[in-house]
Amino acid sequence: MTNDFQEKVSLYTETYRPQFHFSPKEKWLNDPNGMVFFEGEYHLFFQYHPHGTTWGPMYWGHAVSHDLLHWEELPIALYPDEHGEIFSGSCVVDWKNTSGFFEKENGGLVAIYTNADTYLDSERPRQRQSLAYSHDNGRTWKTYEENPVLSDEDITDFRDPKVFWHEESDRWVMVLATGQTITIYTSLNLIDWEFASEFGQDEGAHSGVWECPDLFPLMVDGNSDQLKWVMLVSIGDNPDFKEGSRTQFFVGDFDGKTFINNHDVDTILWLDHGRDNYAGVSWSDIPEKDGRRIYLGWMNNWRYANQVPTETWRGAMTLPRELTLISTEDGFDLLQKPVSEMNRIRKESKVIKEIVLTEEAYSMEVNHEFMEVNLIVTLEDAKEFRLGIHHSSDEKTSIRYDRITHMLSVDRTHSGENGFSDSFPGISECPIELMDDKLILQLFLDASSLEVFAQAGRRALTHLIFPQGMNHTLSLTAFGGGAEVEELSVTELSSIWRKRN
Ligand code: FRU
Repeated sequence: MTNDFQEKVSLYTETYRPQFHFSPKEKWLNDPNGMVFFEGEYHLFFQYHPHGTTWGPMYWGHAVSHDLLHWEELPIALYPDEHGEIFSGSCVVDWKNTSGFFEKENGGLVAIYTNADTYLDSERPRQRQSLAYSHDNGRTWKTYEENPVLSDEDITDFRDPKVFWHEESDRWVMVLATGQTITIYTSLNLIDWEFASEFGQDEGAHSGVWECPDLFPLMVDGNSDQLKWVMLVSIGDNPDFKEGSRTQFFVGDFDGKTFINNHDVDTILWLDHGRDNYAGVSWSDIPEKDGRRIYLGWMNNWRYANQVPTETWRGAMTLPRELTLISTEDGFDLLQKPVSEMNRIRKESKVIKEIVLTEEAYSMEVNHEFMEVNLIVTLEDAKEFRLGIHHSSDEKTSIRYDRITHMLSVDRTHSGENGFSDSFPGISECPIELMDDKLILQLFLDASSLEVFAQAGRRALTHLIFPQGMNHTLSLTAFGGGAEVEELSVTELSSIWRKRN
């Protein structure tokens, strides 16, 4: 980790600066890219515009971490070149040196990304897939001299390659966003790609262009004998839908060439029910003995990403989350839990048990600016439960569970600064069942975000919020009957940018 402690302290203390989420030192960030684990380091590359705080010509920024939380930002990894800007993509470890890019037996890092420019004779976007490789653990990169390696003149939106090694077929597999489908290609060497299949026409949600796919296996209910494949697909903003850009997932089977969705074609499964989790994909090459599938998204929404009220930088990532899969009456569901490394930044917890809730709010002052809140509440005969996070006397974010409609909602209409976009203030909601009359919530509150996980990760609602006040008070209320908090715990979190204590 870097030693320039002083610089970090002054850099990362601006208003709204996330204290336990990754954000760039300065300038614009969007999608996470090239997430790969190699020789003890988690790499996080990201869509980066180093000359402005709005989206512009894209580069790949770069950061590394040993624990997924404390990041060291490194120099820019990939620059626009004669083939265009550097759009989203992935990195793999070419362990067997299939590409021939490495001298040493055990290979190294290869990045597979979209070069974006326009056709020479028109303004039509041209998107082609290219390669770069690194001989020094991602510190410097060489672009492959025969780039691009994959193009298609007919498809305009042809981008965001996510590549992985498929052991059973002894091949590389690429999932690529192609308009409103995902096209699958295979390769023996990362250079020559062959069409395998196309997925998604008439399946799931099509409210915008499909972007940033991922495809990976997960055990069902933790059972190593039953594997299913999860496909993530982000969907671009479309003015007809109030949610803006968001991410869906499919669960099915994959034989190395074709993905078959196990749910009904009309079923739409959202990865996150909040407004601000987009373009997320998972880390490649996490060692088998670890075995986790770790995901992270861009904590923003194309609807207003260019307007959010930060000054010297714009854009942050969600917390890294471990994904697991369970079987349900309706098929399968994906669970998300912030990674266990969070223990490194947890300070002491204040725990209160057995709070009887009524319409008169139970309130608790919290002296932490950044915190995690865990809550188990039994909704005896209450029709509604509310948790208010008061940031100052006139700013609050409300979480509500409606027992009649079974909807969990997050209301940020009064969370703080929100006049920068008409689409920003609002309430988002999702259905979720109680478990034995219990609602289990886990919240992470940073300087400009609130991540809500419900029912042990069954639902995630990720939101940006821009409160002016950081003197938080919690208020808990039950309406239309009684409810009891079994346990409420509030844990201060330490900043990832300041010295560990
Ligand atoms: C998703 C996205 C990608 C593209 C990148 C450009 O947010 O639109 O499809 O590669 O951003 O920055």
